[in-house]
Amino acid sequence: MRAVVYQGPRDIRVMDMPDPKIEHPTDVLVRITTTNICGSDLHMYEGRTDMETGRILGHENLGTVIEAGNAVMSIKVGDRVCLPFNVACGFCKNCERGLTGFCLTANPGAAGAAYGFAGMGPYSGGQAEYLRVPYADFNCLKLPEDVEEKENDYVMLADIFPTGYHATELAQVRPGLSVVIYGAGPVGLMAAHSAAIKGAGKIMVVDTHQDRLALAEQAGAIAIDDSNGDCVEQILELTKGEGADCGCECVGYQCCDHHGHEVPNLTMNNLVKSVRATGSLGVIGVFLAEDPGAHDKLAKKGELAFDFGRFWMKGQRMATGQANVKAYNRQLRDLIEADKANPSFIISHELSLEQAPEGYKNFDERNDGWTKVVMKPGKR
Ligand SMILES: NC(=O)c1ccc[n+]([C@@H]2O[C@H](COP(=O)([O-])OP(=O)(O)OC[C@H]3O[C@@H](n4cnc5c(N)ncnc54)[C@H](O)[C@@H]3O)[C@@H](O)[C@H]2O)c1
Ligand SMILES: [Zn+2]
Ligand SMILES: [Zn+2]
Repeated sequence: MRAVVYQGPRDIRVMDMPDPKIEHPTDVLVRITTTNICGSDLHMYEGRTDMETGRILGHENLGTVIEAGNAVMSIKVGDRVCLPFNVACGFCKNCERGLTGFCLTANPGAAGAAYGFAGMGPYSGGQAEYLRVPYADFNCLKLPEDVEEKENDYVMLADIFPTGYHATELAQVRPGLSVVIYGAGPVGLMAAHSAAIKGAGKIMVVDTHQDRLALAEQAGAIAIDDSNGDCVEQILELTKGEGADCGCECVGYQCCDHHGHEVPNLTMNNLVKSVRATGSLGVIGVFLAEDPGAHDKLAKKGELAFDFGRFWMKGQRMATGQANVKAYNRQLRDLIEADKANPSFIISHELSLEQAPEGYKNFDERNDGWTKVVMKPGKR
């Protein structure tokens, strides 16, 4: 089969790879019809993780089941399914509590597994024609009949729509509250979409890219352009000097100042400054335990100069981590079916799998108009 394979920093190739096979009776095989490029893929693409060369990327996958292991009960050949990026068992101590982003079975010795992801187990990614899905009964989300017309909406259930929603849950966004969201990438935009669905009173999204900020406005948010580095002042002005009730970090450890230089503690400290005393912070941008590629001495060791004193004095609370996609994907699917959510509004490019190198390059450079790339394996 054809697949997108990581070869080294900024070097991915579309190559012939062996087809996956059923390895356990609880597996299914899926023919992928849509697979996305994610901001998380870029950390790997840029060589800022310990991703092994020769591995297939891709954790935002949707397709058709073509084969099911003997022990699979609820999923049938022909089912159209979306796969959460987390590979999870469904029966461990964390999965039982809905914390499928921290499954203890799927990646032994660590908490959390994913397809085509550095440090998250041996699973191949779905930027390919076929994908093996472990624990299929638990991991496959069946899609309704309107998938043929809404496939680009449903594929966002694999990661960024539930992840954006998770950010708003961690930040305790409730009807009427104001929320500031750092990052107008796909994840920040999905956090804005989720906050709007939840009835947030005021949604403010910070970025420096005009194309992305325009989409934030489309999601019902106030765009905060940080091109001058004064986003905190702008948010304080919009909130009577108090700060927002809640805040979401949707950028991660490669966040930049307005000159485009990486400043790893910038969004975290801006979040503390721009959220009111006693407010809640949801941090779903990725931060790593080690980042040898960082320029910053602390960041190399996965440490941040975090403004803990201010955070403490303000009595804020914070929650972090990978999204537990399974905790939300069913309900969010039903919102799409009911035409109450349309996460595909962020898609800028629909490419074939063969065009993956072009997709990665442009999305990585945050080139104007490249906000979200979906790929269609099997289409030429
Ligand atoms: N926790 C999870 O489960 C989960 C899931 C998916 C993605 N992620 C992470 O979420 C983050 C965002 O993903 P994405 O796909 O939207 O990526 P992206 O890289 O496309 O978007 C990040 C955006 O942040 C902006 N940005 C950079 N510095 C900023 C700053 N100082 N202030 C405000 N905005 C700034 C960039 O201009 C960009 O538009 C990444 O770290 C990704 O790995 C986490
Ligand atoms: Zn993703
Ligand atoms: Zn588990």
